[in-house]
Order: sequence, then structure tokens, then C-alpha cells
Amino acid sequence: MKIIVTGGAGFIGGNFVHYMLNKYNDYDIICLDALTYAGNMETLEPVMHNPRFKFYKADIADRNAVYEIFEKEKPNIVVNFAAESHVDRSIDNPSIFLQTNVLGTGVLMDACRKYGIDRYHQVSTDEVYGDLPLDRPDLFFTETTPLHTSSPYSASKASADLLVQAYHRTFKLPVTISRCSNNYGPYHFPEKLIPLMIANALYDKELPVYGKGENVRDWLYVEDHCSAIDLIIHKGRVGEVYNIGGHNEKTNLEVVKIILKELNKSENLIKYVTDRPGHDMRYAIDPTKIHTELGWLPATKFEDGIKKTIKWYLDNKTWWQNIINGEYKNYYERHYKGR
Ligand code: NAD
Ligand code: TYD
Repeated sequence: MKIIVTGGAGFIGGNFVHYMLNKYNDYDIICLDALTYAGNMETLEPVMHNPRFKFYKADIADRNAVYEIFEKEKPNIVVNFAAESHVDRSIDNPSIFLQTNVLGTGVLMDACRKYGIDRYHQVSTDEVYGDLPLDRPDLFFTETTPLHTSSPYSASKASADLLVQAYHRTFKLPVTISRCSNNYGPYHFPEKLIPLMIANALYDKELPVYGKGENVRDWLYVEDHCSAIDLIIHKGRVGEVYNIGGHNEKTNLEVVKIILKELNKSENLIKYVTDRPGHDMRYAIDPTKIHTELGWLPATKFEDGIKKTIKWYLDNKTWWQNIINGEYKNYYERHYKGR
């Protein structure tokens, strides 16, 4: 079995590479990643010498490069994690989101059609469903909830999902799509809420909470996302969408306070800053389908996952300090200055 994992130098793709190489000792994993600001070879350092792992630096939207890799590797399965993934950056500069998330997905599927594969899996997000109101805790996203996007990021991911479904219907490409809630865990780029708050708290820097901090996210430990994708690519029904989430809703303020408590830091570090434009209020996944059809359940409770994550950031300071002391510094200053 040979699997092409795109975006494997990023947060979830990197965790998936480690998960699959550990779980299957007869699978070859081929990583294809453009190494944008979010891609980090240090994440893949532990597997670079594994004979069952290979890395290609390539852009999924570069047709020639992608075809060349498919021609050479002839994968059985493709799992597409590669994407521009940060909502705030999509507000600053939408066009790269269309380029990678939509056109890149199209190129990958064309390669799958040309060279033939057993499965193309699109890693999507619950953000394609838009948001839910805070005063309706009875509502959840199901796979039939209409797509209703808020940010250029979520709009680009929804567009890609529609394209994937069209390739299935028109060309009979054997596809599956998963829509997961917010992930957290090791190798998470420090621009995102949880790692940003851990890093800032460790430096006694202000913790910038958008608006009132009342927005709700449904947090899932990254390894549980990996186990769900593993099940879908092996047992999921072709043409289907599977929601992934563990019923673990928290307001941003709750998350930030938990992190401060774990690190024994003062809540005075919290700074309320100008809200994100178009900020989605609440995400909440109904995971009934993946549970009943494939038997998937998350293994890690938030209370344990957040402790493990904080410990990972404490034990792997060089990994994230290299990032925050590099080009990311400029982004941080631009994005948070005067907010
Ligand atoms: P990330 O930003 O940490 O990593 C993205 C990776 O893709 C990086 O390694 C980057 O170099 C690579 N990449 C970007 N553009 C590329 C291109 N044109 N060609 C090849 N590689 C490219 O993202 P993440 O948080 O790991 O998210 C991975 C996937 O999961 C994305 O598709 C995202 O939409 C989806 N997702 C993320 C979350 C979450 O909470 N982070 C939740 C649900 C779904
Ligand atoms: P983020 O990690 O960017 O994920 P997403 O927007 O895709 O859910 O943000 C999670 C939540 O945290 C979101 O409601 C925005 C909020 N947030 C802050 O309050 N401050 C910050 O500095 C960041 C990056 C996010």
C-alpha cells in the first residue's frame, strides 16, 4: 500500500504521517508539500530516515510536478491535507486560498484520474457549514447541513468539497470527504488559538482574545482526527462525507483560562482585542454517522489532551521558538499591532 499525503509537513498532515508509519509496518508514505510558511521539515525529522517514507517539495497546484510524482510513485491512496488553513490570513489575502485550496485540489484529482487510484480523500472542515447561534445548544452540524460559509478560507474549502463531489459524480473518481472540528495537539503552528496562547503565556506576553471570547469551538485531539481518517480511507463508503468531532465544545475564554491555570499564570495576561470580521460564533459537530457506520470514537478527553499538548510545547521549545523568532514575527506584529 502506498499513500500520498499532501501537506504532510503541516500540523495535521505531519501527525498523520507519524500515525500511519507507526500503525502500519508495510505501508509506504509519500509526502508532497510546498513548504509554505506553515510547512516545517522539523516536524518530519523523526521519519526522514525511515525507508518507508519519502518527501517531495512540490506545490499541489503545479500540474507538471504533481503528474511527475504520480507517474513515478503510482499511489493507491491520496489524502489531501495541503491547504492554506488560517482564517485570519484568508481575510488579509484571499487569492492564495483559492489557488491552493481549490485549484490545487483540482490538479490532484486530475492526477488521480490520469494515473488511477483506489481512493482520493479530501480533508475538509466543519467551517464549510458556517456557524450556529450561541443560544441554540440543541443544534449541531450533520453531513446534510447546507454549506454556508463565512470566510474566504471556509469558502475555498467548501468550493473544493463541491469539486470533489463533482469528480465523483461525473468521472466516478472514488472519493471520500471528512469534515472535522478544530484540532489541537503537537506540531500545531503558533498562529492558531491554542499554541499561540501557550507560547504567549510562557513568555508572559498578553493573550489576545478576539471580541468577548464567547465564540465556541468543538476541540478534538489531533490523533483522534488521524484515526478517523485512517478508518474512512479503509472502510468509508465511496462518495460519502463523514463529520468528525468529539462533542467537546468550549468558549475561547474557557480554553484560554484552562491554559493559564495549567501553566500557573495570571488571568491578567488576557487582553480583549478587536474582533475578527465575520467571526463564526459556534461550531458543533454531530459525529453519529462515523460512529454508527465505522465505529469511530475519540480516545482523548480534552482535560488529558490539553495537558499532553502543553507538555509537548514545554518539551519541544526549539520547534516553536524557531518559528516565532523567524518570519512569523512580522506576521504577528502586523496582525496584532493596535488591535
Ligand atoms: P497547516 O497550515 O498546519 O499545514 C498545511 C500544510 O500544507 C503545510 O505543510 C503547507 O506547507 C502545505 N501546503 C500549503 N499550500 C500548499 C501547496 N500549494 N502545495 C503543497 N503543500 C501546501 O494546516 P493544518 O491545520 O494541518 O490543516 C490541514 C488540513 O486540515 C487543511 O486542509 C485544513 O483545512 C484541514 N482542517 C484543519 C483543522 C484544524 O483545526 N487545523 C480542522 C479541520 C480541518
Ligand atoms: P483559530 O485557531 O484561528 O481557528 P478557527 O478560526 O479556524 O476556528 O481560532 C480559534 C478561535 O480563537 C476563533 O474563535 C478565533 C479565536 N482567536 C482569538 O481569540 N485570538 C487569537 O489570537 C486567535 C488566533 C484566535
